[in-house]
Amino acid sequence: MRIDIVSIFPDYLAPLELSLPGKARAKGLLDIVVHDLRDWTTDRHHTTDDTPYGGGAGMVMKPEPWGAALDEVAAGATIVFTTPSGQPFTQAVARELSGHDHLVFACGRYEGIDQRVIDHAATIGTVREISLGDYVLNGGEVAALAITEAVVRLVPGFMGNAESLVEESHEDGLLEYPVFTKPASWRGHDVPDVLLSGDHARIAAWRREQALQRTAARRPDLVAPTSVGADEVRLAVP
Ligand code: ADE
Repeated sequence: MRIDIVSIFPDYLAPLELSLPGKARAKGLLDIVVHDLRDWTTDRHHTTDDTPYGGGAGMVMKPEPWGAALDEVAAGATIVFTTPSGQPFTQAVARELSGHDHLVFACGRYEGIDQRVIDHAATIGTVREISLGDYVLNGGEVAALAITEAVVRLVPGFMGNAESLVEESHEDGLLEYPVFTKPASWRGHDVPDVLLSGDHARIAAWRREQALQRTAARRPDLVAPTSVGADEVRLAVP
């Protein structure tokens, strides 16, 4: 997989050189290149923003540098604009993006990027507008970092232990069950007996139950109650 990231703050993306994406780079599974949008400006001040037509607060990113940058690095790619007005980012979106050969992240700043850039990008590649969540960041860089990390760990061969991917939160539509390690007793808190039993079927059933209860308590939006029995709540689980 090839990932290009275009930003006016390329230093923000420096952590991609470290940690898991760094290892994937070393294995040759992933090539990440970070670009400075200002390299595609033509004026002495390397201007990337201007006042909005129609008035209003803030600045809008100019189309010319973005057009030149995307023409150079994004032809034929899946072009991800990180924006609070995009589609919410989820594990399902991460999994889908992990199947694409070439992702380009366009990190907006200020009040956003001139709409004509997004319209133009749709003529040279496939546009995705993605939001990290319902809050406003100073720019799209942190979103591009988070999306990149969630996506690249799903690239086949990237994670050492593929099983840990299947069991983690959100992969099966549920939050992950609580986990424990040694010692069996710590500061008066004991590991649940079932986990010490060696009975794999009971352990699997306990974990499933814990995941269901935790999801219902913390994220009721992920599990729709279908009927309430006398002693249990039945949940429709995807
Ligand atoms: N840029 C600013 N806020 C953002 C968000 N919530 N998601 C993606 N990009 C953003």
